[in-house]
Amino acid sequence: MKVTVRDTKETTFSCDVLILPLFENQGIKQYSDIDKALGGLPGKTISSGEFRGRHGDMSLLHTESRIKPARVLLAGLGKKEDINPDKLRQAGGRAASYLRSIGTGNAGLSTRTIGPLHISPVVFVEGCLLSDYRFEKYRKEENRKGLKGITVLSGKDISKQIKQTEAAAKAAYLARDLVNTPSNDMTPSGLVKAARTLKKVSVKVIERKQAEALGMGAYVSVAKGSMEPSKFIVITYKGKNVRPVALIGKSITFDSGGISLKPSEGMEKMKYDMAGGAAVLGVMQAAAEMNLPVHIIAVLPATENLPGGSASKPGDVVMSLEGKTIEIITTDAEGRLAIADAIGYVKKFKPSAIIDIATLTGACSIAFGNEVIAMMGNDDSLMAKMKRASDDTAERVWQMPLFDEYKEYIKSDIADLKNSGGRAGSLISSGYFLKEFAGDVPWTHLDIAGTAWTDKDRPYIPKGATGIGVRLLLEFLKGL
Ligand code: BES
Ligand code: MN
Ligand code: ZN
Repeated sequence: MKVTVRDTKETTFSCDVLILPLFENQGIKQYSDIDKALGGLPGKTISSGEFRGRHGDMSLLHTESRIKPARVLLAGLGKKEDINPDKLRQAGGRAASYLRSIGTGNAGLSTRTIGPLHISPVVFVEGCLLSDYRFEKYRKEENRKGLKGITVLSGKDISKQIKQTEAAAKAAYLARDLVNTPSNDMTPSGLVKAARTLKKVSVKVIERKQAEALGMGAYVSVAKGSMEPSKFIVITYKGKNVRPVALIGKSITFDSGGISLKPSEGMEKMKYDMAGGAAVLGVMQAAAEMNLPVHIIAVLPATENLPGGSASKPGDVVMSLEGKTIEIITTDAEGRLAIADAIGYVKKFKPSAIIDIATLTGACSIAFGNEVIAMMGNDDSLMAKMKRASDDTAERVWQMPLFDEYKEYIKSDIADLKNSGGRAGSLISSGYFLKEFAGDVPWTHLDIAGTAWTDKDRPYIPKGATGIGVRLLLEFLKGL
């Protein structure tokens, strides 16, 4: 979908459909000229009660050549006093989905109603872009094509904002593609391949043997049960000569649980256990494209977690890069093992902050459903920045406490730590485990187990991989 800006009157702009966003119960007065040109048809659609302007309401009218656009789409925004950026984003998503369903090509967007708000009309376009994603590479049958282009009818210079929004949406698409791709194709090597397509970054891969030699015993212990080569991927982007921010993305390309095997029901979804890594890859692509003035070291400790003859077993004790020993209570708590060594690894670069993003616990989705990212950390100001980015992007985070009492949960009888604190409080004890490795480096943990996948279509997220974290982390990086 191509996005352009034109300073043109709606009635003289040729397009398949002109989108007219409307608030609830405000009549047609804002578009009285268009209404007049159309013989009062839009006004009648409203006065008859057919179109009420509730959020998501939609009415399509043919203009029969009375104005340049072939059709107008009345698109409801809900009550004016209730509007917020995400409502506008959702309205954009709904409009674009509707236009896809009827197969229109080019749209124009009137900014009369949304222009005067304190919210940029680009947010509406962002919703259009994000909603238009489909994952079709494994199907012959073609779905309806989405919008070819959307033109924002505005006199304001919003082209930079549009560029950034496009880059972020493209990055979310990349993350969704990587996550939706089944694990037989999206192996650790598949992630390497994806990383190597990124521009303006450098990519280094640490093979299993080297990882072992470096002392990453926790990460390597996860890889031992799989025949698929593990890849510890390090991507660097240097848009400014400052201390780096480290981004770590959980990259278990398939989580069977290992010897602590998961129940088979629903196991097919465990291809999404690399959604953290996918988000980080997306962020690297967009950060480079936007030339963000930041320095990022991204790490994807990629591996499968499978049961095999050489797999780690419950009760095994492994040595992490940090020098802490870990008793493996369950091989299904593998993410924290991989991330612990990734944290140990990035610390050597003296990062100003470490952010990890991971589908870490089932308990996260039990607590929050599909709606919220669980956030934990050791630095309030860093988390406050993340919260701000979350408010702007509606990739919502909510902080969980890391009280010292949780340390008890992960005390082992024979090692420094154990990798599971049991069912009660497991969302938090998993975070506490990582905290032990972050030490005094400012660190934030984002558990996206509940938000990285959706079983139902949402206004701007089709079902499947959501690409969560991409927009959040980009906004966070911009705020630094
Ligand atoms: N990848 C899973 C967490 C997960 C579960 C993500 C469901 C998305 C949906 C993680 O590796 C895991 O298995 N966690 C266990 C930890 C437990 C054994 C301590 C969990 O949460 O059940
Ligand atoms: Mn697991
Ligand atoms: Zn996992």
